Amino acid sequence: MTDNLFHQKFGHEPAVTVVAPGRINLIGEHIDYLGGEVMPIAIDRSLRIEASPVEGSVCEIFPEGLGIEESATFDLSELQVRREKSDIWLNYIIGVIAVYRDAGVMSPAFRASIESDLPVGAGLSSSAALETAIALVIESLSGIEQDVVDRALLCQRAEHDFAGVPCGIMDQMAVGAGKAGRVMRLNCGNLSHSYFPIPDGISILTADTGVTHALGDGEYRKRREDCEMVLRRLQLDSFATLAERGDMEKTKEKMGTRLFHRASHVVSEMARVESFSQALVTGDLDELGHIMRAGHESLRDDFEVSCVELDALVDAAYAIGKRGGVVGSRMTGGGFGGSTVSLVKTESAAEVKRSLEDFYQEKFGRDLNCFITTAVDGAHLVPSA
Ligand code: GLA
Repeated sequence: MTDNLFHQKFGHEPAVTVVAPGRINLIGEHIDYLGGEVMPIAIDRSLRIEASPVEGSVCEIFPEGLGIEESATFDLSELQVRREKSDIWLNYIIGVIAVYRDAGVMSPAFRASIESDLPVGAGLSSSAALETAIALVIESLSGIEQDVVDRALLCQRAEHDFAGVPCGIMDQMAVGAGKAGRVMRLNCGNLSHSYFPIPDGISILTADTGVTHALGDGEYRKRREDCEMVLRRLQLDSFATLAERGDMEKTKEKMGTRLFHRASHVVSEMARVESFSQALVTGDLDELGHIMRAGHESLRDDFEVSCVELDALVDAAYAIGKRGGVVGSRMTGGGFGGSTVSLVKTESAAEVKRSLEDFYQEKFGRDLNCFITTAVDGAHLVPSA
């Protein structure tokens, strides 16, 4: 391999190559930061970092895969949050190096290239892919290996402290511990996880609206704060307790309308995860479709994190319906733009994709980035040829 980006930029082969996939989430949205369970998969769109150690303390990165032409350098002795808009992406890298340092793992300086076919800002966890890939680069260059859960927690901390996004743990865990052909069920309270089958003959279609979400812009944080306020008002320590009590209606007065809606989403979404995994096991496609639809409506109406484009795409998928091969559809990820995920009959997948693309072009005058998605293994080092 001599035509790769790393070789072009630095004139030699890299010491280490890492691949980190994106993720979609099938059910369990906006409940990971509340200790809920989620069901993501790692997808066959990924980010690839090639890197080699260098003398001294200055790192140099060519981030073409993030859509950025300019290379960037930074000094390992100055790992500070970057505030310049053009440098924001660097926080994901600097942040991971800094949290590893604080955990006692000092990265050597390195030069690296980033290539990617994972769209940025599409709700497909390009941030977690970048963090996890850098984490693996650091581990490989320093000769250590973290457990997949510890690595995810370090990456999450980097996102909190350096990117300023108070995210949950779903993305980092899906990117790190996804399994080929399987849906992960992750308990975000204790981080235990297991894997479920994707029913035979079913394909996953991801549709990126091209509406760029910016979780850092405050709405994500506000949803989290609303949920924390619910627990304070009800003097509860978790939504699981609220769900067990089963007396949501009685809490309406104490919470007020907005918080009641937020809590309704959380409690109903937690129940949907349970029914969704049962339906995956029994292969009950109708039930999967109903659950995904209810999940989308709850995110749209109660949690208010959807947008016009996502709603239109989900409606278009259900309009194609069972006869056209659509099992279910919903927005996926943090929302405010980003992508939808649909389960479709494999034999109809190409046709459904075309229909959604035509629909989107006609309605919004823009191309839809729609692709059939397979579940792959999580982030890993690529052995050198
Ligand atoms: C983003 C966050 C995740 C999760 C989802 C919503 O992707 O990074 O932690 O909260 O939104 O489910």
